[in-house]
Amino acid sequence: MATVLITGANRGIGLEFARQYLADNWQVVACCRDPDQADELRALADDEHRLQVERVDVTDHAQIDALAGRFREPIDVLLNNAGIIGPIPIPAHIGKQHFGSLDYDLWERVLRTNTFGPIKMAEAFLPQVEASEQKKIVSLSSSLGSIAERDTPAYAYATSKTALNKAMTLLAASLRDRDVIVTVVCPGYVKTRMDFGTANVEIPDSVAGLRRLIAGFTLADSGTFTRYNGERIPW
Ligand SMILES: NC(=O)c1ccc[n+]([C@@H]2O[C@H](COP(=O)([O-])OP(=O)(O)OC[C@H]3O[C@@H](n4cnc5c(N)ncnc54)[C@H](OP(=O)(O)O)[C@@H]3O)[C@@H](O)[C@H]2O)c1
Repeated sequence: MATVLITGANRGIGLEFARQYLADNWQVVACCRDPDQADELRALADDEHRLQVERVDVTDHAQIDALAGRFREPIDVLLNNAGIIGPIPIPAHIGKQHFGSLDYDLWERVLRTNTFGPIKMAEAFLPQVEASEQKKIVSLSSSLGSIAERDTPAYAYATSKTALNKAMTLLAASLRDRDVIVTVVCPGYVKTRMDFGTANVEIPDSVAGLRRLIAGFTLADSGTFTRYNGERIPW
């Protein structure tokens, strides 16, 4: 039975990943900041015990190391989903990400979550990924991090994803000869808490597309940036 570890699995895209992988008979290690508040996630538990809920704040490196030290099973897909765009509601706070009124503490928090978090997870769980059959590390990026495609001036969020993209291409290169596949993907503009009001992709459609992509990834795809619908995104 294949295993996926998902960060930020208590809501939005992460919760739907957990739901769909469980429905597909995967073993799911669903991580979230506060399992006691994760009612929707815990409700996915079944009699076969294929859902394991773990407490992980991706900015807490000691917590990540502790889980990696305890969790010795192979992980076929390490799914770095957890991320923040900044304080909610987005329109009230987006000025903090605009040049001239930048909030550098916020920028640092966004980088710690969206960039360092996935890299730290990859560092901590690499042995479990390498021990698996599929050996995949997939991180949720955003087309807002693409220098070529977008110029939305959300400095903190956009740069956190650009840096994530670069870090994951470095990792893809360094792990290629160990047969580990490392990719970044964009889920589209999805109707989650990150919706500014104009999102046009339903959560189940995005996740179904991403799961199809992930299932098809081979070593030849390592180091690529792909949208949920299969389009390659220019860096
Ligand atoms: N929605 C979109 O249109 C869109 C577009 C491009 C990329 N993405 C990316 O897709 C991913 C999922 O986003 P979403 O749309 O599902 O947003 P969401 O509904 O806001 O969910 C984000 C998830 O990340 C978790 N999280 C945030 N900070 C965390 C931390 N420090 N440690 C652990 N978990 C943390 C949240 O947990 P809490 O509930 O505890 O806050 C939540 O479970 C993100 O990486 C996002 O950047 C989304």
